[in-house]
Parts: sequence; structure tokens; C-alpha cells
Amino acid sequence: MGNIVLKNVSKSFGATTIIPDIDLDIADGEFVVFVGPSGCGKSTLLRLIAGLEDTSAGTISIDGRDVTAEAPARRGLAMVFQSYALYPHMSVYNNIAFPLKMAGESREAIDRKVKDAARVLNLGAYLERRPGQLSGGQRQRVAIGRAIVRQPKAFLFDEPLSNLDAALRGTMRLEISELHHQLKTTMVYVTHDQVEAMTMADKIVVLNAGNIEQVGSPLDLYRKPRNLFVAGFIGSPRMNFIEGAPAARHGAPTVGIRPEHILVSRTQGEWQGRVGVTEHLGADTFLHVHVDGVGTINVRAGGDVEFGHGDTIHLTPDPAKLHRFDGEGNAL
Ligand SMILES: Nc1ncnc2c1ncn2[C@@H]1O[C@H](COP(=O)(O)OP(=O)(O)O)[C@@H](O)[C@H]1O
Ligand SMILES: [Mg+2]
Repeated sequence: MGNIVLKNVSKSFGATTIIPDIDLDIADGEFVVFVGPSGCGKSTLLRLIAGLEDTSAGTISIDGRDVTAEAPARRGLAMVFQSYALYPHMSVYNNIAFPLKMAGESREAIDRKVKDAARVLNLGAYLERRPGQLSGGQRQRVAIGRAIVRQPKAFLFDEPLSNLDAALRGTMRLEISELHHQLKTTMVYVTHDQVEAMTMADKIVVLNAGNIEQVGSPLDLYRKPRNLFVAGFIGSPRMNFIEGAPAARHGAPTVGIRPEHILVSRTQGEWQGRVGVTEHLGADTFLHVHVDGVGTINVRAGGDVEFGHGDTIHLTPDPAKLHRFDGEGNAL
């Protein structure tokens, strides 16, 4: 079991309030991602759950038991960090076995658990190596292995992939998602990368300045962002925002339209513009189109689109996919 409930949790360092007041319910077995810009309080919130920081107010419960005042080791959670924190002089086997040895488990139990974890993580061939003889991805898997053997109620990940290159991050994303499907254990995962949030989460918690902006499934947030912050943060490339008269025509002070929801034509459309930079990604082309009175609009076109720098084109936002926001930035 790994149901985690936060009630009116707040955290201040001295006179500085980092987390004003958070309520959150993480269901058993759920993969929850905390996402938000650097400094918004993601790590602090995770450390509060782990017990590595004391709450300033509020309560944290795990499986119905109030653990707010309990030491980290007694909460039954396992944390995996960006820096792997492996013991360099120990073999992979001993690194994974370490928490079990500390807990005084038998040699046979340790051996079985280490080998089970190694199998799940494809580390079987590396058990005698030292961390220095492994790639970054393999090291991160060892760190995860050390967490798995403890059979925690929940895994807490703090930006575990930030040190890896882009290709390896993609692979590790899949591996952690697959691991979640196999273990079915609650995972709470912190990242500033909305792509990680979108691809891995059952439930995304968008944080901004210590407050929850919105909680929902990846597609909920993509389709129905509650405000400008979420609209601008979730989705890649970013949503276009339009203000003033062209937005007023659509009945709001600000309207948002994603690059993939704009029709491009050589001859007709709502906005006439001039193509600036074009980004060819192969399957897609992103056109940065300058429209007088509207601004620069990023549009996703097909991979074989023939428009180039300086061409005049016409754009029409799909009316069904427009997002309307009021003067306070809340979705209408
Ligand atoms: N021990 C601390 N003392 C004082 N301020 C801290 C401490 N830890 C974090 N902070 C501040 O809290 C804010 C949130 O930090 P953090 O949770 O690490 O953000 P994130 O993980 O989202 O990047 C930052 O402004 C940071 O400087
Ligand atoms: Mg952090």
C-alpha cells in the first residue's frame, strides 16, 4: 500500500514561505509527477513527504497513519536522487544489498532480493562491477535497484534523469514507466521537464511558487488547462497566446492556440503573415509566422511543407481548439 495524503501542508525557511498551503491525495499505485519551473518548491514538497524536512504546519499521512512527526526511515519510502549517491568502492551487488545488510537481513534473503531487482532492471550482468565501470543510465538503475530491494510503500524520485543525455533520458523514461507497470508501487516523481511529466504520469501536479496550479491526467491538462500558467507550461512547443483586438474577436482578453491546432493556407485564412524561421524536424515543420497586430505565431505544419522564409501565408486557428482566458488569466 502507498496512499499518501497531504492536508494543509506548509513550509517556511525562516521568514520565507516556500509552500503556503497544499492539499494533495496520492492514490496507492499511482504515478504522480510534480512539475514546475526551477525553484517552485518541488524538491521541498518531496522532502516533506520523505521526512527529510519538517513541515511548518499541516499533516502528512501514509496509508491512513499520520507520519508528520515520524523519522524518514520509519515512513517506508525510498528516495532516488539526481546524483546517484552510490558507494564507489562497492560492487553493484553490494550497493544494491546495502540497505538490506543495514536492516540485518539474512544472506539468503539479501541474495534473492538483489537478484530479483537486478533482473527487473537488467543489471544481472553487471553485479560484480563498480559504479565507475558503468554508464550513467546503468548507475541510475543501480540507485533504483537499491530502492526496490527495500520494497517501499512508495518511490520518491527527484529529477533522477537530469544528469543523463537526451537519448538516454528517453530510454530511462520508458524503463521507469515499465518498472511502474511491473511493481505497481506508488511513485512520486519530481521534474522541471514537462515532457517527462506528460509521458510518465498518471496524474500531474503543476506547481508554481509553492502552490498547486492544477492536478489532472496529462491529457486533462493538455486539453483543459485551468489558467495561463498551466496552458503555457504543458505542451511542446508552447501554446501561442494572443491578446488585444484579435483575441477580443474570439470573445476573451487572451486566447491561446497550440501550434498543432492552426490551419495553414497559401491563399486564405483568418490571419495573413510572413514566414520567419522554419524548423524542420522531419515528421513536422514548425513555422514561426509574423502576423501584424497578432504577434509571432508558431505553427506545426507537415514535414514536407514547402513554405520558406519570407513567404506570405494565411493561418486559421481551429475554433474548437481555442483556449479563452479572462483578465486574471483563468480559463473561461
Ligand atoms: N534549506 C533551505 N533553506 C532556505 N531556502 C531553501 C532551502 N531549501 C530550499 N529553499 C528555497 O526554496 C525554494 C524552493 O526550492 P526547491 O524545492 O529546491 O525548488 P525546485 O525543486 O522546484 O527547484 C527555492 O527558492 C529555494 O531557494
Ligand atoms: Mg529540485
